Amino acid sequence: MPRTLVTSALPYANGPLHLGHLAGAYLPADVYVRYLRSAGEDVVWVCGSDEHGAAISMRAKREGRSEQSIIDTYHELNQDAFARFGVSFDIYHRTSAEIHHETSRELFAQLVRKGGEFEERTTEQYYDPEARAFLADRFIQGTCPNCASPDAFGDQCENCGKDLSPRELIDPRSTLSGAKPELRATKHWFFRLDEHEAWLREYIAEGRLDADAAPGSHHDPAAWRNHVVGQCLSWLDAGLQPRAFTRDLDWGIPVPAVEGHITPEEAAGKVLYVWFDAPIGYISATKQWALDQGEPDRWREYWQGDDARLVHFIGKDNIVFHCLTFQATLRALGPEWNIAENVPASQFLNFEGEKFSKSRGIGITMDEYLEEFAEFPNHVDAMRYALLRGAPENKDADFTWDDFVAYHDKELADKLGNFVNRVLVLTHKYCGGEVPAAGGSDVASVAMAHGRQTLTGVATQLDRFDLKQALEQAIAFVDWANTFLQERAPWKIAKTDPDSPEIAAALHASAQCVGFIRILFAPFLPALADRLAELTGSAALTWTEAVNRLAAEQPLLPAGTSLGQPEILFAKVHDRKDDSRLKLIEAQKVKLAAALSATPNLAPGTPNPVKPEITYDDFAKLDVRTGTVVSAEPVPKADKLLKLEVDLGFERRTVVSGIAEHFDPAALPGKTVLVLVNLAPRKLRGVTSEGMILMAEGADGRLQFVAPDGEVAAGSIVS
Ligand code: 2FM
Ligand code: ZN
Repeated sequence: MPRTLVTSALPYANGPLHLGHLAGAYLPADVYVRYLRSAGEDVVWVCGSDEHGAAISMRAKREGRSEQSIIDTYHELNQDAFARFGVSFDIYHRTSAEIHHETSRELFAQLVRKGGEFEERTTEQYYDPEARAFLADRFIQGTCPNCASPDAFGDQCENCGKDLSPRELIDPRSTLSGAKPELRATKHWFFRLDEHEAWLREYIAEGRLDADAAPGSHHDPAAWRNHVVGQCLSWLDAGLQPRAFTRDLDWGIPVPAVEGHITPEEAAGKVLYVWFDAPIGYISATKQWALDQGEPDRWREYWQGDDARLVHFIGKDNIVFHCLTFQATLRALGPEWNIAENVPASQFLNFEGEKFSKSRGIGITMDEYLEEFAEFPNHVDAMRYALLRGAPENKDADFTWDDFVAYHDKELADKLGNFVNRVLVLTHKYCGGEVPAAGGSDVASVAMAHGRQTLTGVATQLDRFDLKQALEQAIAFVDWANTFLQERAPWKIAKTDPDSPEIAAALHASAQCVGFIRILFAPFLPALADRLAELTGSAALTWTEAVNRLAAEQPLLPAGTSLGQPEILFAKVHDRKDDSRLKLIEAQKVKLAAALSATPNLAPGTPNPVKPEITYDDFAKLDVRTGTVVSAEPVPKADKLLKLEVDLGFERRTVVSGIAEHFDPAALPGKTVLVLVNLAPRKLRGVTSEGMILMAEGADGRLQFVAPDGEVAAGSIVS
């Protein structure tokens, strides 16, 4: 039987993962794998922690902890958060494991022995004479040649985003000791990626199948996403360069000595490049999985089997490493290794219009959400649904709490939950809680035909990795079912003709719709699927079983199936009798507003870097006016917020500002302030804020108003 190996990018174990990560490489893979399993496919899904690389060493050095303690902490934290989100890896491995070190060293040695895949080069690299260590690019900081930020890193300036190399930095310094680094010669092994350019170009171009050609089965290759092909081709067009697969670092997998090629002296002090070892983590994870199954050799069937498919789920920042470097590595290892059939990479998810940023407190991590929303019923499915409906599949997308609430209340609660609830209520009322027989009516066949068509449509979309469209089709089926029930209106028929066979026919058909909903949504919302299976008795059919039943013209929920008592599957956020869920959402908005109004937290004495350049037109879009504070009061249950009424001359505005810790509200009326008046309104703790007051931070860290130095009428334009 053909088999599929699915991989999800191994996240660095140097911090908690946030919702953007979850939406990018993990939830989509989970949906795909759950679907394949339900369709009876032989599929293994591997993932795990990426525990090497300079970022982990940096964090360890900054926090005065060992690398091992950092990776142990975050490996566990992330593994646990994934499990609680229902992310159903077959194995969540780690690259610090012995089997991974062995596998990486062995494969590296194989490539070296082959000859021709590597070129030795001696280059000059920055060395810290005080710390007595060569410096990874991330360990060097200096002034950005592009924007003059004083804190650019050796690989990138985080202020202006420009990719850099360490030697471009002005006044470089070592982050280990602060010392001025000096250039020293060092030898490295460069993988001849350039030699693979020709076949890679063909391989990538082949990915561009006719996008409309529907896969006829799970095994027909689907077209690659345009943005993935585009990014690869632009790298190929720029020409591939040899890439160093070794580094001078003390954290990582030691470079093996290879007889006749690399002496023990040459290997000493060097480790394998993290982007060489990380994707090999997929191989070692599969090996460990096979060992755990008691069939140590089975990993080969997935990596080297003739009928095996390889699919990598990743974020767009990993495209080049997966599509070019790793595929070239596999090909270089030999023709027995399969290369990827598809790399359905996601674009980025933003958070309320901002980039996720742990240091600025923007966004929410998986573990924070699980803690903070523990009391929110079905919080896992609620978030999975919001992230999958708004997934950054082909373009960057934005997560907002308002969308989260809208998806939850309008779709999950009003459409899906409500439909199931009505079917249960009506079946208990008119049919004793058991699915009635269809009778002779053709009502049921209409629902069966529509359900069957949706099942086929969703399967085709999933086979094409169009997960968002698949979910849209699934929710459209719920719309259809609601209309269907509304039109049959068995409760109306019961009023005039309580014995009409149309009542049973309508409820039989509606029960079948519930059966379809369970199967259609199972890959997306596993907790819902489990609950629906309980409510519909024994009917937890797999995808394949459902398809077989339909082919045999049998119902999904046979007559006589007892249905559970009606319940609220999704309790709405907007609920007049219970504002607890709304409060959770508002607390998140307040937290975000406070983070956005805070100034970046820099070490004392460090000047704030200048933001990226803008044009005069950008500046001219800001409408800043003078205003006079009329009143100020605290916002209930929000320690940081004050609600101000500001007179702008032409009108009064309410402005909510995160300044309660800095000002006594009684002292504010009469103060002149500068207000950005054309900022989009934002609701904070139920109060709409219609502008932003400009502030400066004093030497004592307290905020102060910025104001004109003489009399100015309220409403004056500041320019
Ligand atoms: O970007 C990252 O988080 C990397 N740790 C991804 C590695 S993916 C793979 F190669 F393991
Ligand atoms: Zn810069």
